Amino acid sequence: MAEARGWRRTHYCGELRPSDEGSAVVLMGWVHRRRDHGGLIFIDLRDRSGLVQIVFHPDNPGAYRAADEARSEYVLGVAGTVRMRPEGRVNPNIPTGEVEVIPREVKILNASRTPPFYIPNGSDADETVRLKYRYLDLRRPEMQRNIVLRHRIVKAVRDFFDSHGFYEIETPMLIRSTPEGARDYLVPSRVNPGRFYALPQSPQLFKQLLMVAGFDRYMQIARCFRDEDLRADRQPEFTQIDVEMSFVEPDDVISLAEEMLSTVFKQTIGAELSAPFPRLTYDEAMLRYGSDKPDIRFGMEISDLTDIVRGSGFRVFSSAAASGARVRGFAVPGGGRLGRRELDELSAKAVDLGAGGLVWLAIERGGARSPVAKHLSVEEVSAISACTGAGEGDLVLIVAAPEKTGAAVTGALRLDVGHRLGLAAPGFHFCWVTDFPLFEFSEEENRLVAVHHPFTAPADADVPTVLDHSARTEDLLRVRAKAYDLVLNGTEIGGGSMRNHDRRVQQGVLRALQIGPEEAAERFGFLLDALEYGAPPHGGIAFGLDRLLTYMTGSSSMRDVIAFPKTSSAGCLLTGAPAPVARAQLEELKIRTSVEDRDAG
Ligand code: AMO
Repeated sequence: MAEARGWRRTHYCGELRPSDEGSAVVLMGWVHRRRDHGGLIFIDLRDRSGLVQIVFHPDNPGAYRAADEARSEYVLGVAGTVRMRPEGRVNPNIPTGEVEVIPREVKILNASRTPPFYIPNGSDADETVRLKYRYLDLRRPEMQRNIVLRHRIVKAVRDFFDSHGFYEIETPMLIRSTPEGARDYLVPSRVNPGRFYALPQSPQLFKQLLMVAGFDRYMQIARCFRDEDLRADRQPEFTQIDVEMSFVEPDDVISLAEEMLSTVFKQTIGAELSAPFPRLTYDEAMLRYGSDKPDIRFGMEISDLTDIVRGSGFRVFSSAAASGARVRGFAVPGGGRLGRRELDELSAKAVDLGAGGLVWLAIERGGARSPVAKHLSVEEVSAISACTGAGEGDLVLIVAAPEKTGAAVTGALRLDVGHRLGLAAPGFHFCWVTDFPLFEFSEEENRLVAVHHPFTAPADADVPTVLDHSARTEDLLRVRAKAYDLVLNGTEIGGGSMRNHDRRVQQGVLRALQIGPEEAAERFGFLLDALEYGAPPHGGIAFGLDRLLTYMTGSSSMRDVIAFPKTSSAGCLLTGAPAPVARAQLEELKIRTSVEDRDAG
């Protein structure tokens, strides 16, 4: 228990209950709220466990004077007695609401400047101020709850894996740069001038080497670093629950992941997950949800209407069908009530995303209201309604576009409308997406790139294509991966695969990615060598802990589950990182920058 100026704390503030009535207590905490009722002063004293009300009466002039002097966020020691609150002062909204403490003696342990925002209303404060004074922001009960829950969840995860025979093994932070996917953060080596380490984007290669080393089951709560364009669900440094197993198939990893999540959700937040989670192939996900991370909280599945409208009098549909594009749409339950302005916004969004336009049909008794109604036959409207499951009062949204664009546009519209109409079912809706393509074509790089990472194994049936030196790009684009992503409420929260444990297959994948033997030996030689010394078949998965926690805590931002997060421009507002360094520091590293920085000294 904490000691302060000879006092020993006996209780946390938030623990006191009616059963403590009459007990002498010593509390240490911060002034959360102070109310002076002319005569009586009430202070809500806060520590990590919560709040308790302290009532100061002028009868005790010493304590009363301290309370008179105390301001928001002063640190107090309070020695006193617990009593039941008088009738009318009970607060049913807090756990200590039936009791209060009458102080015998109070010590002001430290003063506080007026905080830049009032902690009880901190969530209204501007986020840049919250991040600059993060130590104050973290005092907010809501933030304390998130950070403590993070601790409990990580502990439950570790316990789960420990009880299933996994070893937690640390992998290095200073590693060789093997850029693939995001950009690396680089760290210069002073003793090897001109050479750099990279910070790991994930422990991928090391966990595979641990399988070669025979550890069989590995996990790690692993910090990862990626210098990528940041979005709401990305931080430059983040944490993975990283897992690898030998002698397994995808089903083993998938069912272990389901068991782990079910156990941890139940133990920590009391949520019952219904496992097994639904599984969709990548092709199904793209067709039915227009996304490889389907949000299955609302129905509104997308249907392919191309065959229905192939012979339509509506040229937009029939000519799209004739040119090999697809006509796809979905029903919005109750969407008939969307107004003209909302429909215009949805059309503008479809155009922004690359579609020629958006067709909407408001289904009514015996037909449809639509700007294009006169071009569609009664049979076409009823076939479209039947195919999309639309009934009277519903709206059907239809897009004609090349396959990829059409999927992306219908997928985005579906999410937009779902959120607009508040159709998302509450709770945690997990699904797996499987059978991803192994490669995709990057227009930017004008070559194939790995959809996941280059260590992912192809499906057994596609191994010959990967081994075939003369395989064509279109053949390689058809190769499926033994990969699976885990999606929660439309966010990718995990991904994994079986790996290439056969050197020839690994080399075939690198060849398909146009990484020649020399470059492969230079960049991944250590892995290729390891594969020649009895590498077991192996595979695994990594979960994005921060993303998972955002959902588990019900937070609106990933920054609310990280004690010291970065901004969307990868900065730390509290410490000012990244910052210029002294010229002498750069000279020692033999680094010259092309950016003149006036601050460097
Ligand atoms: P992947 O790159 O899919 O796989 O990452 C796994 C999970 O990590 C989370 N994640 C992030 N979270 C916050 N900020 C970021 N910038 C960020 N980037 C990724 C996501 C993602 O699903 N080594 C492989 C895993 C494997 O194959 O076993 C890997 O890192 O939730």
